[in-house]
Amino acid sequence: MEIIPLTNLTSEELEKLFVLNNLAFPKSVWPKKNFEDYFTQDEFFPLGFVLKIDAEISSFVFGKITPSRKFFNIDSLWISEKQRGKSFGKTLVEKLLKEIKKIESVETVGLRFREANRLEKFYQQLGFSQPKIIGQYKNGENKIGMKLKIK
Ligand SMILES: CC(C)(COP(=O)(O)OP(=O)(O)OC[C@H]1O[C@@H](n2cnc3c(N)ncnc32)[C@H](O)[C@@H]1OP(=O)(O)O)[C@@H](O)C(=O)NCCC(=O)NCCS
Repeated sequence: MEIIPLTNLTSEELEKLFVLNNLAFPKSVWPKKNFEDYFTQDEFFPLGFVLKIDAEISSFVFGKITPSRKFFNIDSLWISEKQRGKSFGKTLVEKLLKEIKKIESVETVGLRFREANRLEKFYQQLGFSQPKIIGQYKNGENKIGMKLKIK
């Protein structure tokens, strides 16, 4: 088992990540074009990590700096069902936060999730603050946002 930064993945592996991300989040499927744009704008190449088991991507976290460069959004976090409850979620987010903190301009890290996923406790343990309803998803579910000030 190994944890590898997104920057070390081949284009085939990034493609695999796209497929896995859409399988993981069927309510928020990304069109292929979005994913290609997300991974090809060099200036804002996403940061993230994948957990590989037997050389296959099993779990992942990734996100991107916003154009203002002050904010970093964690866009996706997925731990494969078999690997849950083994601290991999915590480890992947902590590794990503460590990388984000190296970017001088970033002041805040943010993330969003569906209210029904009840991830408040998970993210609070990682230092994120009071959850707030910040909008609704297309199907009407509440969108919860949490933030972590790093500067
Ligand atoms: C949520 C998720 C990332 C957690 O990863 P994980 O590797 O199972 O979690 P960890 O083992 O690192 O757990 C760390 C802590 O968070 C808690 N926790 C884990 N999953 C939780 C959940 N769904 N809700 C609340 N707390 C949770 C654990 O109890 C643990 O606390 P402890 O240290 O006091 O025991 C993983 O279950 C997952 O991918 N779920 C489905 C997809 C999802 O909801 N992704 C997030 C979208 S934003």
